[in-house]
Amino acid sequence: MAVGAPRALDDEMRCDVTHRVCIASQKGGVGKTTVVLNLAVALAERGRKVLLVDLDPQGAIGLSLAREETELAGLADVVAGIVPPGQAVLATKLPGLSLLPRGRLDSVDACEFELALHEPGTLEAVLGPLESAFDFLLLDTPAGLGCVTRAALAFTELVLVPFQPESLSLRSVTQVLRLVDHMRQDENPRLQLLGILPTMVEKTSPASLAVLSEIWTGFGCVLESIVPRAAAYVEASRRGVPVAFLSGPVSPEARRFSLLAAEIEHVIQRLGFEEARHDEQPERRLL
Ligand SMILES: Nc1ncnc2c1ncn2[C@@H]1O[C@H](COP(=O)(O)OP(=O)(O)OP(=O)(O)O)[C@@H](O)[C@H]1O
Ligand SMILES: [Mg+2]
Repeated sequence: MAVGAPRALDDEMRCDVTHRVCIASQKGGVGKTTVVLNLAVALAERGRKVLLVDLDPQGAIGLSLAREETELAGLADVVAGIVPPGQAVLATKLPGLSLLPRGRLDSVDACEFELALHEPGTLEAVLGPLESAFDFLLLDTPAGLGCVTRAALAFTELVLVPFQPESLSLRSVTQVLRLVDHMRQDENPRLQLLGILPTMVEKTSPASLAVLSEIWTGFGCVLESIVPRAAAYVEASRRGVPVAFLSGPVSPEARRFSLLAAEIEHVIQRLGFEEARHDEQPERRLL
């Protein structure tokens, strides 16, 4: 997905409510970046204004969109005081979707970057002035429950927990939920679980389905949507585009994210973060 000029923020673009959502997982490689990127696209295609923020020091979003590691100014430049927040936001070719990339960061400075993000107030100072232009701030985080993920959990109101159903992964979900509880009690009373999202589900693997069934019976907050393992995601990431941007017939994978976006909007309404939008209809008769 090509990105355009830095986005100018003005009063006409203001949104009444902004939902701050981060994705968090103890385990690496469970599809976090794939989920936030494709969810951001699906929400924007549903008419929402979305800012996708890359908190991963490895610059996962930029890499997924086939950009060179150091090419785009972004969060690291803002945190270093080199670029003001508004100038680091990039409009994409998809109306409604903007990016705040990781930014230019020398690998030797990664630790300082993480510590700066963890500093109380950093994310609020960087993202606070931007958020009124968006319905959603979606934050991608690195794997693990280290200081960047904690900073995200201190800043956001909703956390989405991807879960790859394989043996031993239930334990990692429990650890994330424990951290979420801890953060809610100690640092961020607004923080709520948006849901556990099964990812990379192998629909033909009895082992994968058995673990999926365990999560469904053991936890009350599992989303109805799942993201199966599919070659389309690998192909999209190889081509540097979201899955909905692959050419050819609309893929089930793109439709799946559209349904996930709708489910997430519904959960947000159920949790009381937004008023429900009902489509009224009169009673009808078939015969
Ligand atoms: N549902 C899926 N089916 C098949 N491959 C997938 C799926 N989701 C992600 N992938 C692929 O798996 C790899 C890891 O995905 P991704 O980078 O999204 O995981 P991550 O959790 O963000 O990783 P990290 O912990 O390193 O940040 C990528 O190559 C991606 O294209
Ligand atoms: Mg990632």
